[in-house]
Amino acid sequence: MPNIVEVKNLNAAYGQSKVLFDISLAIKPNERVSIVGRNGAGKTTLLKCMAGLLTPTNGSVVFNGMELGQKPPYEVARMGLKYIDQDKHVFLDLTVRENLQLSSYATNDYDWDKVFAHFPKLKILIDRKGAYLSGGERQMLMIGRAILGDPKVLLIDEPTEGLAPSIVDDLVTTFHELSKDCAILTVGQNLSFVSRVAERIYAMKEGKLVAEVTDEAEIKANSYSCYL
Ligand SMILES: Nc1ncnc2c1ncn2[C@@H]1O[C@H](COP(=O)(O)OP(=O)(O)OP(=O)(O)O)[C@@H](O)[C@H]1O
Ligand SMILES: [Mg+2]
Repeated sequence: MPNIVEVKNLNAAYGQSKVLFDISLAIKPNERVSIVGRNGAGKTTLLKCMAGLLTPTNGSVVFNGMELGQKPPYEVARMGLKYIDQDKHVFLDLTVRENLQLSSYATNDYDWDKVFAHFPKLKILIDRKGAYLSGGERQMLMIGRAILGDPKVLLIDEPTEGLAPSIVDDLVTTFHELSKDCAILTVGQNLSFVSRVAERIYAMKEGKLVAEVTDEAEIKANSYSCYL
C-alpha cells in the first residue's frame, strides 16, 4: 500500500539555529504512529513543517502522492492533513457550537454526527463557551474540529498533556476508532499512552530520528525509552 505521508530529508531552523536534521519518515494509511522525544527535541517543529506552518530549510513533505512545497497551512488542512496543536487552542469566547461552525465553514462539512459519535459529551456542552471547558473537553473539541471534512492524516501534538488518567484512557479508545478512517501521528513524552496507541514508534533526540521501533512487545514494554 502506498504511503499517505512521506517526509524526506527534512531540515529546519529558527534563524541561525538548526533544529531538525535530515528527518525522513513514512506513514501508511490508517496507521497509528508516535514520535517520542524529550522537551526541545524538535517534535512540534516537525509537525509544523508537515502542516505547512513552518517552511523547512530543505527536504520535502509528500502527502497523498503530492509534494506540499510551499502550500499554506489552510490548503494543507483542506487537502486532508490536519494539525492539532499542543496548546489546545479553541476560541474561548465562542461556544462549542460556534467553534464547530467555524471549522465547518473552512471544510464545507456540516455533518457533525461523526463528531458526536466520537465525543457524545460535546453534544451536551454545545452551548458552553470554550473558556469554561476542561482540558479534556477542549481536547475533544480540537479533535472534533479536525475530523470534520474527512481528514486522511491527523498530526496531534502532545494529546495527553494536562489530562486526567481517565480522559487519557478514553483518548486511547478514541484514537483506535479514529484510525479506522485516517492515519494518526502523535508526538509527546507520555510513554504509557504511546505504548497503548502506537503501532510504530520513532524516537527523536536533538532534532534527529535515532530509532524506529516496530516490535509490539518492545512497544508494550516501553523499551524504546533508552533512546531518549
Ligand atoms: N519560535 C522559535 N524560535 C526559536 N527557537 C525555537 C522556536 N520554537 C522552538 N524553538 C527551539 O527549537 C527546538 C525544538 O523545539 P520544539 O518546540 O520543536 O521541541 P518539542 O520537542 O516540541 O519540545 P516540547 O516537548 O517541549 O514541546 C528547541 O531548542 C526550541 O528552543
Ligand atoms: Mg512540542
